[in-house]
Amino acid sequence: MTILPLHNLKSYPPEQTVTNDLHHLSPRNQLKNFAMDILKRSSKTWVSEVLGNLDTMWDTIESNISKSGSASYIVPLQKFIFKFLTKSLVGADPSSSPDIAESGYIMLDRWLALQLLPTVKIGILQPLEEIFLHSWAYPFLLVSGDYRKLYEFVRKEGKEVLRRGETEFGLSSEETIHNLLFVLGFNAFGGFSVFLPSLVSTIASDTTGLQEKIRQEVREKGGSTLNFDSVKEMELVLSVVYEVLRLNPPVPLQYARARKDFQLRSHDSVYDIKKGELLCGYQTLVMRDPKVFEEPESFRPDRFMNSNGSELLSYLYWSNGPQTGSPSVSNKQCAAKDYVVLTAAMFIAYAFRRYDSITGDSSSITAVEKAN
Ligand code: HEM
Repeated sequence: MTILPLHNLKSYPPEQTVTNDLHHLSPRNQLKNFAMDILKRSSKTWVSEVLGNLDTMWDTIESNISKSGSASYIVPLQKFIFKFLTKSLVGADPSSSPDIAESGYIMLDRWLALQLLPTVKIGILQPLEEIFLHSWAYPFLLVSGDYRKLYEFVRKEGKEVLRRGETEFGLSSEETIHNLLFVLGFNAFGGFSVFLPSLVSTIASDTTGLQEKIRQEVREKGGSTLNFDSVKEMELVLSVVYEVLRLNPPVPLQYARARKDFQLRSHDSVYDIKKGELLCGYQTLVMRDPKVFEEPESFRPDRFMNSNGSELLSYLYWSNGPQTGSPSVSNKQCAAKDYVVLTAAMFIAYAFRRYDSITGDSSSITAVEKAN
């Protein structure tokens, strides 16, 4: 296996050259087309669901802080993610099923854990981790009950999106539900569940005056209502989102198999790649390239601001493609590349319109100071 930084791919995305063989559910193009269609159609609901469910999330956190002095935010955050995604992507309200409303997010957590356990680093003394945790796939049986409940929920409540999968994409209702659960559970819920805690933690633990600057920007810009257009005006907020994605890419590893012989170039070398070889791109390394990013290990919230900063966007690869690129069926870039960034920006903007300051770490919020 060859391990190389992704930016070594001279022309990115390498659509005709490599193929990712990890998606087994249905023809990949159908899945991507379907995902992009759902996203496009969900954009209005998406924004209102994000804002409405942020109200609930912060109400819960505030009430937990007043009861116990601090609040673990992981559960309220995951409930928020699950609810806004289910409503906007599936068009279904989890509240219509008490079991799903209460535990839908935990069902997805267990389903995700089963799939990710063979690949993620736990930190147990090696080689024990490789031998005992990373050597086999875990049986689906362990989560089939959860999966079946989610499946039935989508079948009953997601009628409109199922009809669209069948009529517009030629998918059977079974395929549509599996694809939908994969996009909802793995891509969307999984991605946000990793990303948002690192965003909250970075901002809530900052002691350099960043919150004050964010607060000023989100109150000055963007008018009275938050939406995707209004957060596009918030240069600092967007730069913070990009910088967190640069330092902590939520999905750091990508694998692909070469479809033909080709040459891969870095700043100063050329590598001969043979057809069939497995390539691994490690975003964490790529996005700390000192030839591209000044002080690459430091968190610099304003790094992506102004014209110099925006030039760096072509080296921001968290979505498996440059931030300046566009997801399509001929590349492997995240279908929700722009939704993720704008949703995270709305998340920050909402928080600092509601609060003057937020104090916390990677799992808890210890204090919030309400806006006057
Ligand atoms: C913070 C949240 C997210 C992160 C970090 C993320 C990241 C990624 C990455 C790195 C890939 C490439 C995976 C690979 O090929 O190995 C990917 C692919 C994909 N993502 Fe996202 N994603 C997020 C949210 C979403 C959401 C909300 C959706 C849809 C609603 C979505 C839909 C997809 C789809 C359909 C693909 C497959 C693209 C293809 O195979 O061409 N993602 N995502």
